[in-house]
Amino acid sequence: MADPVSSDLAALVAAAQADFAAAGDPAALEDAKARYLGKAGVLTARLKALGALAPEARKTEGAAINAAKVALEAALTARRTALADAKLDAQLAAEALDVTLPGRGAGLGGLHPLTRTLARFAEIFHSLGFTVADGPEIEDDFHNFTALNTPANHPARSMHDTFYLEDGALLRTHTSPVQVRYMEEHAPPLKIIAPGRVFRVDSDATHSPMFHQVEGLWIDRDVTFADLKGTLTEFLRLFFERDDLAIRFRPSFFPFTEPSAEIDMSFGDGWLEIGGSGQVHPNVLRAAGIDPQQWQGFAFGMGPDRLAMLRYGIDDLRVFYENDLRFLAQFR
Ligand code: PHE
Repeated sequence: MADPVSSDLAALVAAAQADFAAAGDPAALEDAKARYLGKAGVLTARLKALGALAPEARKTEGAAINAAKVALEAALTARRTALADAKLDAQLAAEALDVTLPGRGAGLGGLHPLTRTLARFAEIFHSLGFTVADGPEIEDDFHNFTALNTPANHPARSMHDTFYLEDGALLRTHTSPVQVRYMEEHAPPLKIIAPGRVFRVDSDATHSPMFHQVEGLWIDRDVTFADLKGTLTEFLRLFFERDDLAIRFRPSFFPFTEPSAEIDMSFGDGWLEIGGSGQVHPNVLRAAGIDPQQWQGFAFGMGPDRLAMLRYGIDDLRVFYENDLRFLAQFR
């Protein structure tokens, strides 16, 4: 049987196949298709011209055009499939997983430097016989002030400006309310520290509106200022791993201790304030139901944030609270 595609149609089919093969993506291929099979396509024009032919010629030419159309459509489909396959291959190659590469590691985190510092406090004080007590960060006026011998309108309250909640509750300004809560629940002798967050309206390089304190409380029959000095000196020497650290007391005032003292630590040529302290005031013991004729002892409140700054050589308190991984990763 003779080839039904006449020679000029054979050239047209060959040209179309070359065009299709040259189309690099589906859009180019559709453009090429339109040039032959579209409304204004070359082959479409040939079909339209059939009407002008004599019946006999129309029959042969019509069959030849149809055969050419079938050939074009087959070439088109083949090229479409080839383009789709190539795209899939490229995608698979791009997303290939090299299972022979070494792993990236588990990305281990670490404890925040302040968390480590508080853990260190607990560990050292534990070795000195103190256990850890806890209390709420949202406090009531009674525990934060009144029970600590600081009644309403007491001038000492103005040093403790804080954040008040709608129902009269407040964010505790110090960890001293834990003294009260612990004494309410436990009979002496008592020997605790209470680390935790406290809040004040204060913000600069050495003050943050949220910071930490570690409260200490030791109540027994005859606990004195000498015990306070011994305890704090021993703690600081263990904390900083130095035998030559000294502390000094500076007379001060807190409503809940009498006498009261600021605690200074030797630092280079000078002294650095690290907290407040004193013998627990009889009114505080009484407010918690403890007989001050039978029991006495000391309390202190230290700033672990500042001790952490010293230990790690940090000069701006705020980096502790910014959660910048470049900073935190150094403590992993
Ligand atoms: N609570 C005091 C403060 O925050 C510190 C302190 C605690 C002083 C215990 C004496 C005894 O300033």
